[in-house]
Amino acid sequence: MRAERGNTFFIHTFGCQMNQADTGIISAFLQEEGYCLATNEADAGIILLNTCAVRENAVDRIEHFLRHLYGQKKRDKKLIVGVAGCIPQYRREEMFSLYPAIDFLAGPDTYRTIPSLVEQVRSGGKLASLEFNSAETYEGVEPVRQSAISAFVPVMRGCNNMCAYCVVPFTRGRERSQPFSSVIKEVRTLAAAGYREMTLLGQNVNSYRDMESGSDFADLLDAVSQEAPEVRIRFTTSHPKDISESLVTTIAARPNICNSIHLPVQSGSSRMLGLMNRGHSIAEYREKIALIRSILPDVGLSTDIIAGFCGEKEEDHQATLELLADIRFDSAYMFFYSTRPGTLAEKTLEDDVPEPVKKRRLQEIIDLQNRISGELFQEAIGTVVEVLAESESRRSSEQLMGRTAGNRAVVFDRECYKPGDLLNVLITSATSATLTGRPAQV
Ligand code: 5AD
Ligand code: SF4
Repeated sequence: MRAERGNTFFIHTFGCQMNQADTGIISAFLQEEGYCLATNEADAGIILLNTCAVRENAVDRIEHFLRHLYGQKKRDKKLIVGVAGCIPQYRREEMFSLYPAIDFLAGPDTYRTIPSLVEQVRSGGKLASLEFNSAETYEGVEPVRQSAISAFVPVMRGCNNMCAYCVVPFTRGRERSQPFSSVIKEVRTLAAAGYREMTLLGQNVNSYRDMESGSDFADLLDAVSQEAPEVRIRFTTSHPKDISESLVTTIAARPNICNSIHLPVQSGSSRMLGLMNRGHSIAEYREKIALIRSILPDVGLSTDIIAGFCGEKEEDHQATLELLADIRFDSAYMFFYSTRPGTLAEKTLEDDVPEPVKKRRLQEIIDLQNRISGELFQEAIGTVVEVLAESESRRSSEQLMGRTAGNRAVVFDRECYKPGDLLNVLITSATSATLTGRPAQV
């Protein structure tokens, strides 16, 4: 074990849950070669940024960070800085000239090379390892996990959808799935290790396909839930066009699959969905929601919205507000549109909605969604919900934080409970983001 400072590493993770899972994979490769995970950045001789390229402001944050690291490198000549994940995959070698702090670059398909990149940087030079490899699934790698309660299980990587605004197909490459048997093996190992919740991950999980048997995502979800019947099973992210009735009936049939679906809609206007190349209309989206709710009446639904995409008119924006008011999602991730290099929209559409208009529309969307979430959460006051305790609450050590099966955050009095416990909580108050309560005696 090389414990001296030069051989310790620290990873800052930006972006989606897939990136968080990838940080665990990168850590595993580094530890395998004898590097140690530092408890904080100041103790690390190697600093890695695992980056997100999905929106311009995510990229801005990383640029800011790299300028700060450049100052640090001037004071500490031995410090090694690497940038991994989605940004280097499309910015490529130009990053070396833009950000002199960087010693090496690695893309989502080349994490295996990171330990050797570190070694080579030590002997001088700057290196990039950015090949796409659509066979790389990191099958069998045991990631270093952040939590002993909840685990991410990547089941597929990449995306073939080509939504006009999205950089992901250009950063993460073509879709590929983990073999069915290897997902089941990982789930078995995690259940035996005492994990209480698993989230099956993919840029588009519903495109999962086992190469050998042809099994689809509904088959996988069913098998996973049977393999770990005491463990809560979640999954993300789903594309509306790929949500099948068999998936919804599988969720209904298996008590340990959480009644919660994240179903990004992006806009309430069919015209915008066409420009976005989403492959479905709003009528079809509403039909999917009706199907889901007919089979899972108490499902927790969430979505993603983009305000101000190319060509968006006031009437399209109003259609988004109408959709939110009709569907009443539990929660939504809401963004204003930013052009991403290399995408279909950058090449073929004009980013013609002025920034103040984008921001005003986004604010109207946020205000409406917050009001709806607040109303839905208020309705939960007085009810008893089942919660998996995840951690101590950020505000008080006397309270724990957990989630309902529908994915609502709940803060409750700790009493005799600990993270990992599944318990009933009586809800006594609510904001638009959190329910608060106390353990219920039932
Ligand atoms: N601008 C703004 N939001 C975007 N998203 C993806 N690309 C962009 C972009 N160029 C949002 C979508 C997606 C979520 C992960 O990020 O809503 O579902
Ligand atoms: Fe960001 Fe998309 Fe890459 Fe995840 S896959 S880190 S959301 S760009």
